[in-house]
Amino acid sequence: MTMGLRAFLSPPRTALLASIGFALCASANVYAHSDHERNTLVPPGYTHYAPSPVPDRVVLTFAGDPATSAAVSWRTDTAVENPRAQIAPALDGPALHQVEQTVAAASVGLTMENGAALHHSVVFEGLEPDTVYAYRVSGGNTWSEWFQFRTASDSASEFAFIYFGDAQNAIKSHFSRVIRQAYSDMPKAALMVHAGDLVNSRDNRDDDEWGEWFDAGGWLLGMVPSVVAAGNHEFHKHELPDGTEEQRLSPHWAPQFRLPENGPEGLRDTVYYVDYQGTRFVVLDSTSALNNDTVEQQARWLETVLRDNPNRWTVVTYHHPMFSVSAGRDNPPLRDHWKPLFDRYGVDLVLQGHDHVYGRAGDNLPEGKTRFDDEIGTMYVVSVGGPKMYMVSDQARTNMTRVAEDTQLYQLVRVQHDRILFEARTPSGRLYDSFELVKAADGRNRLFEVLPSERRCTRPDIPGYRETRCWEGSDLIEPPAALRNAR
Ligand SMILES: [Fe+2]
Repeated sequence: MTMGLRAFLSPPRTALLASIGFALCASANVYAHSDHERNTLVPPGYTHYAPSPVPDRVVLTFAGDPATSAAVSWRTDTAVENPRAQIAPALDGPALHQVEQTVAAASVGLTMENGAALHHSVVFEGLEPDTVYAYRVSGGNTWSEWFQFRTASDSASEFAFIYFGDAQNAIKSHFSRVIRQAYSDMPKAALMVHAGDLVNSRDNRDDDEWGEWFDAGGWLLGMVPSVVAAGNHEFHKHELPDGTEEQRLSPHWAPQFRLPENGPEGLRDTVYYVDYQGTRFVVLDSTSALNNDTVEQQARWLETVLRDNPNRWTVVTYHHPMFSVSAGRDNPPLRDHWKPLFDRYGVDLVLQGHDHVYGRAGDNLPEGKTRFDDEIGTMYVVSVGGPKMYMVSDQARTNMTRVAEDTQLYQLVRVQHDRILFEARTPSGRLYDSFELVKAADGRNRLFEVLPSERRCTRPDIPGYRETRCWEGSDLIEPPAALRNAR
């Protein structure tokens, strides 16, 4: 039996300890190398991710109607003058420069450990629906390559998108194959949803981490628009004069992602919605909701965008799960203030992260309904894209339809007139979970499922690891203290 096949058959951990010489050898090899040899960290003394005259960190987003506009952000050093972007119909020949339109950029300065940078952005407006455009962004006496994207149709029609849970740790090393495999499976994806904790931001290496995130996604971030939700790791703690603490959004976030700014006052960098071909994507900020006491403010705004919603489908994304999948985690304010609105207005799909496992359904757990509730019809999903791996709680194992440990995943979602087809796939492209939500004439959703065999944590017991975690994520950068001391 191969290691991969055994992992998929999900043996209990005790059986693993008795039976897997291969796994123990593999773990011994892992810890035989020095910290930095195991990872993609920039060696001490170098600034690989320093800004330069050459544009980098190019990322496409929505800041208006996706049928007629698109936004792009990028970074240079501070010597760049007259930052701008050019856009042109995607000709079949090279004469893009002869038909381009130039748009002046807005720029924000940001000084981080890699030096002083300018983050630029433009919103291209007045575009034709369902049309391919090429664009490029300027640097210091140079340009980026020409990127391409297609505007949305101006009416409801079929499309597909990709959804990722937390990338967060060892991003270039371990998230890169996830995002690249997802794109190779779905190169016509209309957009990518990132459900928070794109980076870790806790080791004073924020700028390197963002450098890794852009390395992992590379040029596809400039071609497929990202719908980004902020996670707790995109916030930093600040102590207030009265001794209390509040969470403040990372200084990278707003300069780096040009967003619609149609959210509630004071939360416009992290709360917004976008309508794409008959689907409303609503992005909420669960970190601010839970830590900065904005859950009710967001609920008031949420009610307006769910009540006045002309779209057939509604997808909501935010970071902290409505129903936690990992042990020792719970977010009751979200159930108190947001879930009643999801129920009342028939939200179809809720895409979340934070728990570093996979978990689907478990709808209405507090009310005793432990599976998908076809009276309401909302499907809740938690997923993880990066290598930080927690354990599934006993409660979630009992109550949820589908869970996974020790498994990085990406999700491919196809939106059709009367159904949403959802697939969760592993980094090798293997199908792990699949369901269809079929919207009946009365607006209710019916559920059809395909469930391959379940995955559990396959790491043998190693001193230094917590019971609730399979892999720390940060252990791929630096081993736990107990292991370090043992060497
Ligand atoms: Fe998180």
